[in-house]
Amino acid sequence: MNILKLGGSVVTRKDKPKTPNIEAIGRLAHEVASAGPRRLIVVHGGGSYGHPLAKEYDIYVGYSSPRQLSGFSLTHQAMVELNRLVVEAFLAEGVPAISIAPSSFIVTEDHRIADADFSVVSRASESGFVPVLYGDAVLDSAHRFTILSGDQLTARLAIDLGAKRIIFGVDVDGVYTANPKLAKEARLIEELSLNQMRGMVRIGEALSTDVTGGMLGKIQEAGAAVDVGVEVQLVNALKPGVVKDALRGEKIRCTWLRR
Ligand code: IPE
Repeated sequence: MNILKLGGSVVTRKDKPKTPNIEAIGRLAHEVASAGPRRLIVVHGGGSYGHPLAKEYDIYVGYSSPRQLSGFSLTHQAMVELNRLVVEAFLAEGVPAISIAPSSFIVTEDHRIADADFSVVSRASESGFVPVLYGDAVLDSAHRFTILSGDQLTARLAIDLGAKRIIFGVDVDGVYTANPKLAKEARLIEELSLNQMRGMVRIGEALSTDVTGGMLGKIQEAGAAVDVGVEVQLVNALKPGVVKDALRGEKIRCTWLRR
């Protein structure tokens, strides 16, 4: 089984509030369909749907004022809207996607998933569906609520369901020696070991509002999955054909995270 995480910078236009990248969503749905049938779980990020609202209402840090309650609902609802667009795009391509809302079955403990029952996700996948989950506003046992990043969710799904590989579809070719959007000398790192990941200090950070950690956060979350033997690949999902090739196991320009 593979898990495909589509970053918010892929499925939305990150600098414009609540703007989907419809063209990318449709193309990626087509790529998944044409990569052929296989067990796949899709997780998508929040981008300009989830992050601005999460930030406006300080949802990540947890409860401090009653006005956040509506903010929590608005953040979740924005993710539901984005998720609908993603799921509909898959359905239009004949991929049997089903939406599963993380906030309806995951309660975090101090921002982290402790025990989660992924049996519905795994049964859906075994039954031939493609579950589509997302980063979400979730209830938290210590802070009343928080934001669960799609990256944390992806790593946890991979570990608990024994996935072979995680493909993180992002808006750059992988992990660089410096931020490729800012520094000309930035070079792509083709392979990163766990030790290198841990020791890493300079990596490309996401440029826009991001309450859940950008590239560094992604690597930290992925580390837990790499640690138990899951292969993790960071690929450029904005380049046509890359995700399809990754799903087919073809060689592409990317970063591999390996034990
Ligand atoms: C965040 O999910 C979800 C919300 C802000 C509600 P992610 O952290 O996975 O989103 P991206 O991929 O960074 O946009």
